[in-house]
Amino acid sequence: MNLFRRKSVTELQTEALTDHSLKRALGAMNLTMLGIGAIIGTGIFVLTGTVAAVNAGPAVVLSFAIAGVASIFAALCYAEFASLVPMAGSAYTYGYATLGEFIAWIIGWDLVLEYALGAVTVAIGWSGYVVSFLHDVGVDVPCALAGARGTVVQCMDGTQATALFNLPAVVIIALVTTLLVVGIKESANVNNVIVFIKVGVVLLFILFAAQAINADNWKPFIPENTGDPQHYGFSGVMAGAAVVFFAYIGFDAVSTAAQESKNPQRDMPIGIIGSLLICTVLYIIVSAIATGVVPYKELNVPDPIAVVADRAGMGWMASLIKMGAIAGLSSVILVMLLGQSRVFWTMSKDGLLPPVVSRIHPKFQTPWITSIVTGVGVAIFSALLTVREAASLVSIGTLLAFVIVSIGILVLRVREPNLPRTFKTPIVWFVAPAGALSAGWLMISLPWGTWERLLIWFGIGLVIYFAYGVRRSKLAQR
Ligand code: ALA
Repeated sequence: MNLFRRKSVTELQTEALTDHSLKRALGAMNLTMLGIGAIIGTGIFVLTGTVAAVNAGPAVVLSFAIAGVASIFAALCYAEFASLVPMAGSAYTYGYATLGEFIAWIIGWDLVLEYALGAVTVAIGWSGYVVSFLHDVGVDVPCALAGARGTVVQCMDGTQATALFNLPAVVIIALVTTLLVVGIKESANVNNVIVFIKVGVVLLFILFAAQAINADNWKPFIPENTGDPQHYGFSGVMAGAAVVFFAYIGFDAVSTAAQESKNPQRDMPIGIIGSLLICTVLYIIVSAIATGVVPYKELNVPDPIAVVADRAGMGWMASLIKMGAIAGLSSVILVMLLGQSRVFWTMSKDGLLPPVVSRIHPKFQTPWITSIVTGVGVAIFSALLTVREAASLVSIGTLLAFVIVSIGILVLRVREPNLPRTFKTPIVWFVAPAGALSAGWLMISLPWGTWERLLIWFGIGLVIYFAYGVRRSKLAQR
């Protein structure tokens, strides 16, 4: 039994070129929009305020910049891999080509935390926003149908109820799953519309709220540490970076669309790096404005951007911001589910998951079985769970994938230096180690409880691999 058997890059490249089961419909523009669709979500609409108030003060701008730089290192490595090995399995396939099957399985299993659990987290957030938006327009969702099972929810009329399940979360997952089954082009078109709405709302916010900045609110820029490392000072800024990292998650999902891209060699790097750069700039500006308009201590609210808009005399924007957030979260769910179904599809084609999973719909040319299985699983969890701990588990899962991709890129440079690379990570001997170290360091900044859950998750993954994949793997049959 060779746990470290590898697929060769040339073999993977041939597979990527000759496999036409998925529809190649996406160009650079659509891929960049998918990236922005996945990135801008809960992070900017919620975490900006919490991190400013609790961890970093006005230096939340620095937290965003630090998390952004760590993401850019990883993005450059993803861009090289995605153009070299343009396969839907993303980090899982890169792992297969460099570090062997066992590590590949671990990454594939780990990506479930990023994509499926990410979709669960965001669907629950989506539900909260939708319930509040519907209330504003006079429609009240019965509160027993708008929360995790068994939890006590606050109803809009001030009463309390014990929730049965989270209906809005199930509805959004069902809608998005249907769209993904119907077609990649259709999904990309809907995503484009959503991205226009959410970026439009963010730009409007920037344009109007900037006029209400009071520079005194930025002083002190880094409030003095209180003795608790999480609480202000430089260590607080770093702790804040680990939290706002969540806001950057998603650019890597672009790489799971590689087999649906018309020209992945050229367009993957544009989609991955382009979307990340645009969002980094927007995040830094929005967080600077937020802390410039409202004193940071007052920002620990569930809807900081709406509070800032209100304080800037833009009360009229409140509903628009809710709409932007709802739209924003919908596209995050879309791209996360897209990513998860593609990774499962690839794992099944490699024999590590049952073959039925990799069937392609004859008419729609989509991996419809994986899309539906993923959708049903995600819907069940988002109907029944609360999200308190989920977001940090999503972050740690993503960061681990970044560490492995950054290491993998170096392994491949050493092992196969002469492969024709259309995109080369610049100064790779600095960028890749910096990517691995910064992602590793952000992982360490996350609480121990998150690590425990990660280890339990891997324990389950190992049982499945040794019970099934290790013998069924296509490489094991050779
Ligand atoms: N980056 C995504 C968000 O902030 C996951 O919601």
